[in-house]
Amino acid sequence: MRDITIVRLNADSDHVATVASWTYAEWGHLHPGSTPESYREAFRRECGDGGVPSVFVAMQGDRPVGTAALMAEDMDSRHELTPWLVSVFVLPEWRGRGIAARLIRRVEEEAAACGVGQFYLFTPDQQGLYRRLGWCDHEALSYRGENVTIMLRRLEA
Ligand SMILES: CC(C)(COP(=O)(O)OP(=O)(O)OC[C@H]1O[C@@H](n2cnc3c(N)ncnc32)[C@H](O)[C@@H]1OP(=O)(O)O)[C@@H](O)C(=O)NCCC(=O)NCCS
Repeated sequence: MRDITIVRLNADSDHVATVASWTYAEWGHLHPGSTPESYREAFRRECGDGGVPSVFVAMQGDRPVGTAALMAEDMDSRHELTPWLVSVFVLPEWRGRGIAARLIRRVEEEAAACGVGQFYLFTPDQQGLYRRLGWCDHEALSYRGENVTIMLRRLEA
């Protein structure tokens, strides 16, 4: 899409609160005890300054419309796997236009640039999207009451 740009989210950006509110609404229930404020502060810390961790945002002009991030950990029961593609989210009215695909490619570039040879994600229901982008199924398991698939992406050295 011509008018969408993918940019790094910096910790001091006004968009941190917006993006954290999307991910809290979508996944906050998976983190008992979390609040919108705790989510926002964790998100701010995770912005990093390149490599792992990093957060990216899809911008339509000066408006954020989607996000994806690269994090060291995402699954309590799989500390040995690292790093992870996490928090892939696009606002409902912007879906089906390839924005998630562009965000995922940007995270892959970031991982490759810092020497990551392979990385992971887990999803309950978006396996098809990731398979089309070159991800492979790694493990099926139950996690926090949900059937999910851990997927693996190998990157060029
Ligand atoms: C999953 C999610 C991130 C996908 O975002 P998206 O921007 O719509 O994704 P893309 O457009 O890159 O690809 C989605 C679909 O649009 C299709 N598509 C891509 N470019 C397109 C275009 N230019 N025109 C029409 N369709 C297009 C893709 O083929 C894909 O098809 P599918 O519906 O059969 O999977 C979004 O639905 C979302 O935020 N969901 C809620 C959170 C979530 O589930 N996140 C994933 C956690 S693992």
